[in-house]
Amino acid sequence: MTVKKSKLICLCNGVSEKEILSVLKRGARDLEKVQKFTRASAGCGRCKSEIEAIINNYCSSKAPDLQQNINF
Ligand code: FES
Repeated sequence: MTVKKSKLICLCNGVSEKEILSVLKRGARDLEKVQKFTRASAGCGRCKSEIEAIINNYCSSKAPDLQQNINF
């Protein structure tokens, strides 16, 4: 059995793409909320553009769901 590992996006805080997508699926829609719930980009900030690209890709593929608010 093979387990697919998720790409590590934030090296400072060890946050994977899978973790970021999980927060997006739960309603986060901007870098601030992703940072709040994962700590991604809370260090050197080098990963910000990659996180924003993940957010933009997710939101563009989920356009009808954008009315949904985060409920943590
Ligand atoms: S790599 Fe994400 S804050 Fe440094």
